[in-house]
Amino acid sequence: MRHACGIGGMALESRALSTWHGTALVVGTGGIGSALLEALAERAPDLQLLGASRQRPPNWEDGALADTAFMAVDLTKPCSLDGLQRRLGALPPLRLVINTAGVLHGPDLQPEKRLSQVTQASLATSFDLNAFGPILLAQALESLWPKDQPFHFASLSARVGSIGDNSLGGWYSYRASKAAQNQLLRTLAIEWKRRLPLGCVSLLHPGTTATELSRPFQAGVAPGQLFSPARSANHLLDVLEGLGDDQSGHFWAWDGSAIPW
Ligand SMILES: NC(=O)c1ccc[n+]([C@@H]2O[C@H](COP(=O)([O-])OP(=O)(O)OC[C@H]3O[C@@H](n4cnc5c(N)ncnc54)[C@H](OP(=O)(O)O)[C@@H]3O)[C@@H](O)[C@H]2O)c1
Repeated sequence: MRHACGIGGMALESRALSTWHGTALVVGTGGIGSALLEALAERAPDLQLLGASRQRPPNWEDGALADTAFMAVDLTKPCSLDGLQRRLGALPPLRLVINTAGVLHGPDLQPEKRLSQVTQASLATSFDLNAFGPILLAQALESLWPKDQPFHFASLSARVGSIGDNSLGGWYSYRASKAAQNQLLRTLAIEWKRRLPLGCVSLLHPGTTATELSRPFQAGVAPGQLFSPARSANHLLDVLEGLGDDQSGHFWAWDGSAIPW
């Protein structure tokens, strides 16, 4: 079911992305993060964009993001978050933050098929970025949100992080780290409802998307079910555009349907 739009304090018109102004930060400039920045440049021309990842993607300056500011940030390093806070403090007020940094596999990390493959290292790597990263990012940015303007803090989760939706098993570390992120940001949404009531905190599932993160698993995806990063990005912005502070603290799929925790 699509979420309700246009209820609560603000009229739907005032939520239109084209009217958003201030600073938008996208953390993680991989497949979906870069596509989000490109889509924001088109759909929200008054936002000042900043992309952040550990490394600037190699084609950054040659492509559509040539004019977009970039900052090297490692979400798992507190000093890096301090630097990000200082940089953002010198920019127009924050309007939107989308965290897209996440890990599923890597040189020393493979999603587990069975219990015997779970290691302390696989759990720690996954939780460090997927669960601890977003809440520590929120903490670093907390003092920067305007008290009198609406804002969005969104982080990409994954449907497989839903405990209620878990009927297949496997992928222990990834699933559990996304479930932990969901709980941490749900808790954050409750606190910010009191302290920053115009904010909207969201967990977003982008749909299976053709990026480095999904590359090893794309063969099993049904035809038509693998989204381009641009398609995912635009779906996610559609979802955020329809959300207001009255819908803070929920887990949404790319089509605006609510996902059970
Ligand atoms: N693709 C899918 O099918 C899919 C499905 C469901 C959910 N998701 C979620 O969507 C999000 C985005 O995924 P994606 O498909 O765009 O993956 P991706 O292309 O692999 O991008 C992930 C990004 O995370 C950044 N990153 C990794 N470690 C970081 C760190 N310590 N600090 C800051 N940035 C870091 C990477 O850049 P650097 O290496 O330069 O830091 C990379 O830009 C992830 O949270 C993923 O779990 C994806």
